[in-house]
Amino acid sequence: MDSPLIDPFARPISYLRVSVTDRCDFRCVYCMAENMTFLPKAELLTLEELDRLCSSFIGLGVRKLRVTGGEPLVRKGIMTFFQAMKRHLDSGALEELTLTTNGSQLGRFAQELVDCGVRRVNVSIDTLDEAKFARITRWGRLRQVLDGIEAAQRAGLRIKINAVALKGVNEDELFEMVEWCAAGDMDLTFIEVMPMGDMGGEDRLDQYWSLKDLRARLAERYTLEPLAERTGGPASYVRLVETGSKIGFITPLTHNFCESCNRVRLTCTGELYMCLGQEDRADLRAPLRASGDDRALEAAIRDAIARKPKGHDFDYSRQKVDGQVSRHMSHTGG
Ligand code: 5AD
Ligand code: SF4
Repeated sequence: MDSPLIDPFARPISYLRVSVTDRCDFRCVYCMAENMTFLPKAELLTLEELDRLCSSFIGLGVRKLRVTGGEPLVRKGIMTFFQAMKRHLDSGALEELTLTTNGSQLGRFAQELVDCGVRRVNVSIDTLDEAKFARITRWGRLRQVLDGIEAAQRAGLRIKINAVALKGVNEDELFEMVEWCAAGDMDLTFIEVMPMGDMGGEDRLDQYWSLKDLRARLAERYTLEPLAERTGGPASYVRLVETGSKIGFITPLTHNFCESCNRVRLTCTGELYMCLGQEDRADLRAPLRASGDDRALEAAIRDAIARKPKGHDFDYSRQKVDGQVSRHMSHTGG
């Protein structure tokens, strides 16, 4: 391998998150407007282009690949891409191939994912109440997701649940979610709601439930044992002594993790975002399409990494959303 990707702040870039589609079969209120316009197909990287691009990153030292969206499992033919990435697991170049999904299609794809070398999946689920689930996701049905999770576990996948902390929405379900995850041997991570995109008229600040409050609430019932473990991402973890289960907290609005950031994000159109909270991006689709020679592509990747910023500018202080990024989560990938 050529010299690996190191950014200007001496952070090795070993983790690529790749959004394979901007489409989704849900319309979560904090993520999408109900009447979203999606990208025309010609804008999207083809499955072959995704393969080439991800393989270049892996050639440059990326060890962990997370497939996201939109909802990755609604992309037509996506299993072809997973099968293609399996060769990097087999060769040892890639350590982990994983995905973040809303779970709606897991019943169909769980076994194939396992066959492609996927061992763990993150499933987003904010509530265990059918009516609330329908309200948050607009188009989602809780039963289908719970069935998907069961199918995934039967196929041998480890599940991590991601729940966005929403004030006045899932506050009252905190302990129920914790106990449900502990009973099902699933890790659980709470995410602070981020100021992304336009939310179809919903007010973000009304929904903001700080994880500091959430954590304090947890500590009323459980003994929290902080874990040293870092993922190079914005998560910190505790172990609940009483249940033995692991709880994560993702606080993208605080600056406490940028210094260890090891990741970059690729959109479904081939734009590389070097930081989730910054607008700067590099177009990798042009060099990808300009030539079949990977050297130009690798040079473009290195140029982009050389521009990776130190951190981001989200800030909820003074009750206005500063540093807001206008793109949708479904475009950059969660
Ligand atoms: N703030 C926080 N999390 C979000 N997600 C999508 N939009 C937002 C937002 N505005 C989450 C999803 C999923 C992950 C991919 O990102 O719920 O858990
Ligand atoms: Fe789809 Fe995930 Fe966005 Fe919900 S949060 S609309 S499941 S991409």
